[in-house]
Amino acid sequence: MPADRQLDVYLLPDLIEPEQLAGKTAVVIDVLRATTTIIHALASGAEQVIPCLEVEEAKQVAARLGGRGITGGERGGKQIPGFDLGNSPAEYGPERVAGKTVVFTTTNGTRALLRFKSAGRVLLGAFVNFSALCRELADERQIVLLCAGTDGNVTREDTLLAGAIVDDLARSRNWALNDQALLAADAWRTAVRLLVDRPLGITLRDSHGGRNLIEIGQENDIDLAAQIDKFDIVPQLDLNQWWIRLP
Ligand code: MLT
Repeated sequence: MPADRQLDVYLLPDLIEPEQLAGKTAVVIDVLRATTTIIHALASGAEQVIPCLEVEEAKQVAARLGGRGITGGERGGKQIPGFDLGNSPAEYGPERVAGKTVVFTTTNGTRALLRFKSAGRVLLGAFVNFSALCRELADERQIVLLCAGTDGNVTREDTLLAGAIVDDLARSRNWALNDQALLAADAWRTAVRLLVDRPLGITLRDSHGGRNLIEIGQENDIDLAAQIDKFDIVPQLDLNQWWIRLP
């Protein structure tokens, strides 16, 4: 029977034109670390996260919010001078972010969100909310998984998560898949065989994003990003209000 559902993966934002997302359910993936960190922030009780492209824009938005706003993000992986928080999930505990609006800018993750302006729905994915995300997607008919990558390069950690989602969804329904979805699923199924002997965090260390984090002394964040199903939440980007919240 021909598939009546379409599930596509794009390994980099530049591989899809924004208008191709019209009306579809899109998932942005930046395992190391933007989507993992945003999910931590909202799970810790942050009211919302406002993604900004530029540092100055983030500062201005936070200034308008007064005491309700808190700035977070990175450039070159490191905390931006004058910002309250960096891009480590460990920094986004309830004591820092509960009840706050996090004004957030990162090199690749927040940039990827700009591709989604015409999408029907935009969800955030990471290993930390894997099963909740798959449940949320199960009844959709047109899905695009968009990997943020790193500085224009395809990254293993984002590809593996996209592949894990494809693998999970393909168990219960018949989907038409693009070649990048097939490649990502192949990569995940190979990794799963290796994961019998070693934790996901070890596999993620051997990736573009993983190596970058080790270089800047943030190796612990890789283990935080590898905690599959730590949270049962699926943040959503409201395209009109331009904020990320829990529904
Ligand atoms: C990004 O959005 O560019 C990444 O999350 C970079 C990082 O790991 O800090």
